[in-house]
Formats: sequence, C-alpha cells, structure tokens
Amino acid sequence: MSFDFKDKVAVITGGATGIGAATVETLCELGGRVAVLDRNREKDQELMEELTGKGYAVSFHFCEVADEASVQTATAAAAREHGGIHVLVHCAGIQRYGDVLDTSVEVWRETLGVHLDGCFYAVRSALPHILAAGGGSIVIVGSVQTVTAVAGSAAYVTAKHALAGLTRSIALDFAKKNVRANCVMPGAIDTPMLQWAANLAPDPEAVLQGCARAHALGRIGRPQEVARAIAFLASDWSSFITGAMLAVDGGMLVPTGGMGFQESGTGAVAKR
Ligand SMILES: NC(=O)c1ccc[n+]([C@@H]2O[C@H](COP(=O)([O-])OP(=O)(O)OC[C@H]3O[C@@H](n4cnc5c(N)ncnc54)[C@H](O)[C@@H]3O)[C@@H](O)[C@H]2O)c1
Repeated sequence: MSFDFKDKVAVITGGATGIGAATVETLCELGGRVAVLDRNREKDQELMEELTGKGYAVSFHFCEVADEASVQTATAAAAREHGGIHVLVHCAGIQRYGDVLDTSVEVWRETLGVHLDGCFYAVRSALPHILAAGGGSIVIVGSVQTVTAVAGSAAYVTAKHALAGLTRSIALDFAKKNVRANCVMPGAIDTPMLQWAANLAPDPEAVLQGCARAHALGRIGRPQEVARAIAFLASDWSSFITGAMLAVDGGMLVPTGGMGFQESGTGAVAKR
C-alpha cells in the first residue's frame, strides 16, 4: 500500500484559498485528480492556472455550499469530469463573531448554513459516488473549537461542535461499506480567514502574537501542515482510523488552563 492518490478523485469544498487550497495542491502532488467546489471564482482561477500549469488534473466547479442544489450540481459535474469520487474534504468555512444575544438570526443561519448544512449537503452529494467506487474517505475540517470554545463565537463554536457528531454518525453508518469519516481540528492557521479576523482588532499584529503564544509550539500553523494531516486521513494509510478527531494544533489543546495558566499557575510554580 503506498501513500498516494493515483487513480483517486478528491472533491474539496472551500478549496480556493487557505487550508483548502493547500489540500488541493497536496493531493495533486500525491497524484490525485482534484475537483474544487468553491464560490470564490477569482481565487480559484488563480489556483487553477498555477496547478494546471504544473500538469495536474484539477477542475473548478462554482458552488455555494449552503445551497443544496448548488452542491449537488457541482458534485455531479465533478464526478462526470473525473469519472467518479473517492475522497471528500469539507473545508469551506466562514468566521462570524457574537454571543447568543448579539448574534442575529441571519448570522446564526449563515454560519451554520456554511459549516453544518454545507457539510451535510456535500456528504449527501458525494457519498453515492464514493459508495459506487467501492468506498473511500471523508475528511471534515473542524477546529479546536470542535471540542472547546472561544468567547463571543456562539454560532461558529456550535457549528464546529456539530461537525463532530456528523463525523461520528457517518463513520458508524457507513463503516461496513468501506467508507471512513474523520475530522481534523486545526489550531490558528495562517490563512485569509485568520488575517481577516485579526484585522477586525485595532492591533492585528498583537492578535496574531496572542494566537502564536496560545500554542505549545509557540507559533501559528501553516496551511500545508493541516493539508498533510488531511491527506493522511484521506489516504489508505489511515485505513484503520474512522470517527476520529485529530487535533492539528501545535499543542494548543494540551495545557491545562491554556498556555497562560502554565506561565502563571501551578505550571510556573513547578518550574521554579
Ligand atoms: N485558519 C484558521 O485558523 C482555522 C482554524 C481552525 C479551523 N479552520 C477551518 O478551516 C476551514 C478553512 O478555513 P481557512 O482558514 O482556510 O479560510 P479561508 O477563508 O482561507 O478559506 C475558506 C474557503 O471557503 C470558501 N467558502 C466560504 N464560504 C463558502 C460558501 N458558502 N460556499 C462555497 N465556498 C465557501 C471560501 O471561498 C474560501 O475559499 C474552515 O472550515 C475554518 O473554519 C480554520
């Protein structure tokens, strides 16, 4: 068994930028044929030109993941173009802030629409093709906020938590049909989403430095570092892993009470 995607087709939602784009490139490098489902035509055009220029088999299908018909149409086009689907990565996402009182119903629905409904639609659209191919792998991009919470992010945290339930349900319901489903949980990763979030603050650099300090490794992650974990879970090399939640977080979830507590609490006492 080799760690490659030769003879495999992967569909990646949110593949135009950030973690999704890094995953598209990684799976291409590993020999896969890749279909990108995204709503960002401009960024996707740039990525397509770069990757087709390198000779990779990659296609773009405009898709609004919160719209079931759009996801179905784009997935069907991807399957037609590449002759089937073996891997689905759901990476499309947006960041929205607010507690339950100041999150509008519109923002609540938008956030859950992209992360959770979008994942449900993507899986429902791709799974029949994966089953027809004899099985495959589904990787859902959660977050450290799949198992913890950041203040003032009620809709995002709720959506990311829900993805754990969806991952485990798919894993159980389709295990006997040779379909695996796993979730990666990134820490703070250097992508347009993180830059956008930092730019909301008066001092974006201070936000990014705070993010870096929150990881045991003391830095923000790179999109490629998440893409490699996704590639592993999407590949046959993870053949006995299903229903798992894999943190790709530079140790962010490890310290009791967070890194601040290590520096000022009993962790600091023990170091004296
Ligand atoms: N960057 C981080 O620090 C971080 C941390 C944890 C989890 N994540 C998750 O990783 C995933 C990718 O995020 P990223 O940081 O690469 O962000 P990003 O903004 O660079 O990429 C998100 C992609 O999703 C696409 N997208 C958004 N809404 C869409 C919609 N309705 N329909 C179709 N496409 C849509 C965007 O066009 C974009 O290409 C998200 O699910 C995000 O929640 C990111």
